[in-house]
Amino acid sequence: MNDNKNNRIYLTGFMGSGKSTVAPILANALGFTFVDMDCEIENLTGKKISEIFSDLSEEYFREVESSVLQEVSHRDRSVISLGGGTIANESNLQIIKSTGVLIYLKTSAEQIYHRLKRKTDRPLVRSKIGVTLNEEQLRNRISVLLSKREQFYNQADVIVITDDQRIGLTVDEIVQNLKNLIR
Ligand code: S3P
Repeated sequence: MNDNKNNRIYLTGFMGSGKSTVAPILANALGFTFVDMDCEIENLTGKKISEIFSDLSEEYFREVESSVLQEVSHRDRSVISLGGGTIANESNLQIIKSTGVLIYLKTSAEQIYHRLKRKTDRPLVRSKIGVTLNEEQLRNRISVLLSKREQFYNQADVIVITDDQRIGLTVDEIVQNLKNLIR
């Protein structure tokens, strides 16, 4: 493994912050490989993320997530799109901070609400029996989770606000910040 932290870029942020959209474009701009944590977990388990939550448990999902993180943290020249909750755990945070540069795509609760309200593939924003939450329940779920996680997201080396910002501009902002960090 190349120990240089600039060799690995991690993208964090709440569900709907645009990590999976930004990461492949950023990887392409840097000549790095794109890695998506949720895809890695689905490939490893042969199940969709929503099935892991419904058929097994969130606890099981978090165990697999941590072991996949261990494995991807050794991959060189990679842009790694984390799951929205990967970082909300001290030992995962420690792995991420010690092996790469961490970028937080910061999105307001209001924008997250609008981006997630029609999504059906995020088990954490559906009720236990798989029913879509109503507006008040969804807003509440987002605000509770976001306030628990902000302390972890804020440990990022770079914070980029994504509200109302085009993807191309977000990528440019990250590349510029990386240049300043590496210099
Ligand atoms: C989760 C976010 C999801 C996925 C899982 C749990 C979370 O990833 O890992 O549903 O805890 O916020 P995205 O952030 O890519 O949606």
